[in-house]
Amino acid sequence: MRAGAVHAGTAAVAAADAGTWKLGDLEVNRLGFGALRLTGNGMGGGSDGPPIDRERAIGLLRSAVERGVNHIDTAAFYFSPLRSANELINRALSPYPDDLVLVTKVGPGRDPSGAWLPMARPEQLRGQVEENLRQLGRDHLDVVNLRRNGITSIAEHFGALAELREAGLIRHLGLSSVTPGHLAEARAIAPVVCVQNCYSLDQRTADANGLLDLCRRRGIAFVPFFAISGHRREASAVDTHDDALRAIARAHDATPTQIRLAWTLHRGPHVLAIPGTSDPRHLTENIAAGALRLSRADLDILDGSGTMDDPDGAGRSDGSDGQGSSKATA
Ligand SMILES: NC(=O)c1ccc[n+]([C@@H]2O[C@H](COP(=O)([O-])OP(=O)(O)OC[C@H]3O[C@@H](n4cnc5c(N)ncnc54)[C@H](OP(=O)(O)O)[C@@H]3O)[C@@H](O)[C@H]2O)c1
Repeated sequence: MRAGAVHAGTAAVAAADAGTWKLGDLEVNRLGFGALRLTGNGMGGGSDGPPIDRERAIGLLRSAVERGVNHIDTAAFYFSPLRSANELINRALSPYPDDLVLVTKVGPGRDPSGAWLPMARPEQLRGQVEENLRQLGRDHLDVVNLRRNGITSIAEHFGALAELREAGLIRHLGLSSVTPGHLAEARAIAPVVCVQNCYSLDQRTADANGLLDLCRRRGIAFVPFFAISGHRREASAVDTHDDALRAIARAHDATPTQIRLAWTLHRGPHVLAIPGTSDPRHLTENIAAGALRLSRADLDILDGSGTMDDPDGAGRSDGSDGQGSSKATA
């Protein structure tokens, strides 16, 4: 997209401009939305500011959907003292549009005070699924990701979710924070429609261990989280950008953040974006980033700037995620 188009045309740009992908039988626009930031405060990682205004959060969700966002990522454990992502989604969007796909995740949990609990045992996953059903006001969940928090084998947990899928509580299953080995383990049990891992210009474990490409070959969506916040993770957006990234952003009349997001979408047709924001202006920019078309030369420069850092640990050979249960389990 040429200079001026991203900013001048932002209101006219729709999430559909990024193209579509099918999660099983559910078609979504590749530019989606992550609900983590709607809780405003109280989530791990230093986000301890005031809670986002409730009406503003509801307005943001409605605005996203009006502009074509039909893939929203959430979790029952996305809550702060005064806000619950699932409750906001329910309030803002139900009765839900037919084409809206809500993706939630289970495994981690928090007690009512917000303290992180140990990874759920397989027999506790049904309770977590039902908690999501209740909060979202649905009789089944479109997609449930098993978020692997430090467990080495996912077979028992994924098997428990496969049973819930068979029982009709879940339509499709996905995984989060996994290695290619975990994906193979899960696929031997039930189909996997998406993998949600930490991935950005500065965190490219999924390139190093081949997971991103493996998902493409298997027809599985790869859904990066922290694509914008990078090494700052739950705290805030990455705050420094190298000169090459700034130059590419200027050439596209875009912000460096938009280029970071657009770069992920250029990693393959199976890559979906779920940027998180509580700011309507950023929502507009993020949707517009889905319409950016980076050139081969842009991509060569950006591809050369990445690192293979592994803060999420999904590439560790021991299969641990390198983090305690007290933080960064989103
Ligand atoms: N599976 C998992 O384990 C896992 C883990 C973490 C997150 N997630 C999911 O992935 C989603 C994305 O991750 P995330 O929300 O943590 O991080 P992110 O999307 O990488 O970045 C969000 C941060 O970037 C800022 N931001 C957003 N748009 C911006 C823009 N256009 N310009 C400048 N700053 C911008 C936000 O602040 P403002 O609010 O000020 O815009 C916020 O600080 C989450 O919402 C959640 O649904 C999943």
